[in-house]
Parts: sequence; C-alpha cells; structure tokens
Amino acid sequence: MKNSWTKTKFYMLMSVLAIFLAGCGKENLSALQPAGEIGKQQFFLIVLSISIMLLVVGTVAITFTIAVLKSRRSKVGEAFVPKQVAGNHKLEVIWTTIPIILLIILAIPTVWITFKQADVEDMVTEDGVANKDSVIVNVTAYQYWWEFEYEHEGVVTSQDLVVPTDEKVFFNLKGADVKHSFWIPSAGGKLDTNVDGINSFYLVFDDDKAENADRLFYGKCAELCGPSHALMDFKVNALPREEFDQWLADMKEFEEEGKTADSSDAKEGQEIFNNSCMGCHSVTPTNPGAAGPNLTNFGDRELIAGVLEHNEENLIDWIKDPESIKPDNKMTGAYQLNDDEIEKVAAYLMELKVDKNSGDVEKMKKAIEAEDNDEGGDN
Ligand code: CUA
Repeated sequence: MKNSWTKTKFYMLMSVLAIFLAGCGKENLSALQPAGEIGKQQFFLIVLSISIMLLVVGTVAITFTIAVLKSRRSKVGEAFVPKQVAGNHKLEVIWTTIPIILLIILAIPTVWITFKQADVEDMVTEDGVANKDSVIVNVTAYQYWWEFEYEHEGVVTSQDLVVPTDEKVFFNLKGADVKHSFWIPSAGGKLDTNVDGINSFYLVFDDDKAENADRLFYGKCAELCGPSHALMDFKVNALPREEFDQWLADMKEFEEEGKTADSSDAKEGQEIFNNSCMGCHSVTPTNPGAAGPNLTNFGDRELIAGVLEHNEENLIDWIKDPESIKPDNKMTGAYQLNDDEIEKVAAYLMELKVDKNSGDVEKMKKAIEAEDNDEGGDN
C-alpha cells in the first residue's frame, strides 16, 4: 500500500515537472531555440559548459560510488589499510592537468565569443559617425517599459520593437532611472542598461526562425528593478528588410500627415488626451515624450502595458487603475479622469494606428492562415 502511494507521488511529481518543462521550448521565447547568430553562439556555450559539468559530475559520482561499494569494511575487513597515495607524483599531475585542460576548453570559446559579440565596429564609420548602412536602435529602459529610437530616422516607438531579419541590428542601451537588462531570449542578451554609460551590442534575427515564431519574439527585463520588474516585457516584430523599411516609412509619413480621430468618441478622447495625457505621452513618431511611452502606433500594438491582451476593455481597466496591474508604475495618480472620459480616451488610443500592412502582426497572422487555407483548397 505504502509502496504504491510512493509510486503515485513519484508519477505526480514527474507529470508536474513535465508540464513545467513543456514551457521551455517556445520558439519565440526560449534561449534553447536560438533564432540568430548571437543566440546560437550563446546556446553553444550553454551546451559546452553543461557538457563539461556533466562530465565532471558524472566522473566524480561514479568514482565515489565505486569507492564506497568496493571499500566497505564488511568486504575488506576491519584491519584493511588502503594503499597510501599522498604525494604520488603521477596522480597529482593527472588531477591537476585534467581540470586545467577542461578550463582551457571552456575558456577559449567563451572569451573568443564574448569579445566577438561585443564587436560593434560596423556601427560607426571610420570617421566615428553612425554608419548609415547599419540599423541602430537606441534603447532606453524605464520603470517598467521600453523606448526604442531608430538612430538614422529619429523614429521613436515603445514596447513593440520592430527589426529587420537576416542582418545585424545594433543596440545602444541605457537606463533612465535604475539599472535594467535588455534580453530577447530567442535572439540573445542579456546586456545591462546602465544609468551612466551606454552598452552596445548587436543581435541577428534569422528570417526563417522569425517566420516560425509568427514574426513575434518576446523581450524581457532581466535585472530586478522594482515591484513590476517581472511585468517589464516588450515584443519584437522581426520583418524582412523591405517590410521593415516600409514600416519606418509609414511611421515617418504618419508624422507628416498627422493623425485625427475618426469616431466622435475618439475625437472627444483626443481632446481629453491632449489636455491630460500629453504632458507625459507623445503621439508623434519622432518625439520621445516627456515621461511616458510614445503612443503613436498604440492601436497596432500586441499588448497593453506589456502584459494585457490588446483590447479596449483592458485599456480602460489599465487607465482606471494602473497600480493594480503594474505596481509602482509612474502613471498612477498622474491624472484625474472620470469613467466617461477614460472610455473616450481609450476609443482614441485604439484608433492610433499607423496604417501598415507590414508591421501589423495580427494582420500578418491572418494572411498566413488564409494562405494555408488556400493551399489546402487547391489540393
Ligand atoms: Cu526593468 Cu527589471
């Protein structure tokens, strides 16, 4: 009876573990499924170091077990004295040399890859100015959101990072308030965003991997930075170069044309927004805004506040009581709006779309589905 209960407990534990481990393999969120050059190199280092560790742990465990089993008093007798090996020249050479060799095997690729990954030479020209041919994104981390500025175009966006695939994308990282850390598990990282000093590196997003992940990777803050650290997520929309260029062009064009609200609610909302929210937020793609995220393409985004599903209902909940969703955020108490005003502001924000076929992931997913269905129909 007792035995079967022990077995049941064992199987229960294993199934819970299986469920947890099942989450490790998402192609848009896992360092174990690298989606580009940097991620692949980092994965290689993970595998290399774990293999060496397993080799050492395995050897020690096996040797230990053999020693324990073979040298029991019951087997060798009470009076047995093992062969004394203290000061044995040969043995000491062996157990000093093996760890040195293992460390060298671990150190050479680690040091080589670390320096290679920090190589941002292509980011600047010989004259020391930003290289026009390279995509450079200036990242600023705030409690608890991300701002992305495209160096050459001056386009600013927040929370949803858009990048081209199959080429180096350079990042200049800094923190606005405290230290955060920029991490896109599938592509690579982490690298600290410090308050003083800029850290630079690059990532590559493979186009086929991006396609497998529905062109959407997840980014995270990897440095404990306050109560909402775990909610400091962002999205990475990885597009083929032409679509990326189109997105940038759409963003710039949007600035020239400006955006006026369509529905009457949204029109009223726009006015309320201009009076109450504009102090912190910007809806111009080349203006970072004073203290809050740039909302130019808010309607196109994947999530609200980085954590809620993107719909009007959630947006209203967020504006009404941000503290309950993201504790310690800077929006709490920054404005006084009644429920009616909040609904109108939400209607306005949901209309803030930069009309782009390219960057709109939802549209893209639908297009892919439609394509798949078409293929099915032809057969
Ligand atoms: Cu920012 Cu953790």
